[in-house]
Amino acid sequence: MEWTQEKRYLPYNKWDADTLLHLQAQAANSPAQMHYHLRPISGLVNDPNGFSFFNGEYHLFYQSFPFGAVHGLKSWWHFKSKDLVHWENLGIGLEPDAKADSHGAYSGSAKQIGDKLFIMYTGNHRTDDWERIPYQIGVWMDKDNKLGEKEILFKNPDHISEHFRDPQIIEKDGKYYAILGAQDEKEKHGHVDVWSSEDLKDWKELGFLDFSDKDMGYMIECPNLVEVDGKNVLIFCPQGLDKSIADYDNIYPNMYVVADQADLENHTLMNSSQLKNLDDGFDVYATQAFNAPNGKAYAVSWVGLPDISYPTDNENWANCLSQVKELTIENGKLLQKPVDAIKSLRENEQSFIDERELTTKAGQQYELKMKISAGQKGNLYLQANSDLSENLKLSFDTENGELVLDRSKAGEVSANYGTSRKIVLAKNKDLDLDIFVDHSLIEVFVNGGEHVLTGRFFTNQDSQKIVFDNETSYQATLWQMKTIL
Ligand code: FRU
Repeated sequence: MEWTQEKRYLPYNKWDADTLLHLQAQAANSPAQMHYHLRPISGLVNDPNGFSFFNGEYHLFYQSFPFGAVHGLKSWWHFKSKDLVHWENLGIGLEPDAKADSHGAYSGSAKQIGDKLFIMYTGNHRTDDWERIPYQIGVWMDKDNKLGEKEILFKNPDHISEHFRDPQIIEKDGKYYAILGAQDEKEKHGHVDVWSSEDLKDWKELGFLDFSDKDMGYMIECPNLVEVDGKNVLIFCPQGLDKSIADYDNIYPNMYVVADQADLENHTLMNSSQLKNLDDGFDVYATQAFNAPNGKAYAVSWVGLPDISYPTDNENWANCLSQVKELTIENGKLLQKPVDAIKSLRENEQSFIDERELTTKAGQQYELKMKISAGQKGNLYLQANSDLSENLKLSFDTENGELVLDRSKAGEVSANYGTSRKIVLAKNKDLDLDIFVDHSLIEVFVNGGEHVLTGRFFTNQDSQKIVFDNETSYQATLWQMKTIL
């Protein structure tokens, strides 16, 4: 099908039900489809949105174009959960049905205020001349998931270009703040813009967030500020960031800084660190984090990137979300760990000590938790076929503190941005790996979440061997993971 502009922006009610059912079946039945991660019910998924705790449950939406594997007219698709692992599909949660969001209900956030959920997002509107107007919109959702009237809160001020989106709503010291991704009109540089309001109706701009003296590229998308163990972590996507400021391999990076304090009134982060990649793998972007009432900080990422195609595009679906990660700061380092409830998906436990070949039938949904002893060097092949011509390779050298994830033989993956990712670890230490595989998604949590490597791969689903190329001293446990969707 040719995706003309008209087709991409066709109102949802102009699509027929049979087409949607067919697309849903195509997504559900694809061998590459994920089964214990949030995945497209149909079409394309991108950013997580509205990650929040409301009325006793976690709510999470994602950007969705349900009619194909392209970035068309976006809506929010809605899920809820009691434990951040088992999710209930609630269907479309926010439709682009107003003039202000006529060309997409773009990314945003949500927060329980009183007995309702306040959703703040960007309405992407285009005029007849295709000029973009980014309206920041507020809408209340009640306990029956019913939405009230959409209200335009503000649009881009004159000094900000049409690239102004992805508000995160924050409540602090009895006041509301919103931080947004922005590009200034004059220099066309990326910023995080801070706004405040007493009543969620009247908003005023406070100014660009001062968190670095470096140039942040041409646009910042999806900024999020969360408190983690007494520090303030800003997670954001600086597009066009110069690699001398912080090196990265993906087309666009998802970075973070850790600051001692956030003074939003003066739009400043105090004593913020250098920029770092949030994920060291191939496919994480637009991570959204929030502070839950239980005092924890949770994050979830889009596994996919703008302007990158994937083989399932041919099956009319694309991308997924990561598992939810708990953020902590230990010994000054930001850690990302699987939430405890992920253990409830484990079944059929098997243990291994030092065997070269663990299994030829690992399945397609598993967790492999492993400790490789210090002083070793070798390769661990996952999702391998019998002659290892297909595999996902983890190369470790604990003496020199190196770990490489290589997907060059892992089926049809984009090679434009390199096929391996390397991380540097402390030397001569045991290596802890917590590896999650879900059909075409791998997430590797390294040394208790000091690093995470996330990536898609597209090996044959029958390639299920797990094997070391050398004698290796290690201990491992393998579990099959139950299906959630
Ligand atoms: C990031 C992004 C956001 C925007 C949304 C549109 O991936 O471009 O900036 O709100 O996707 O789907």
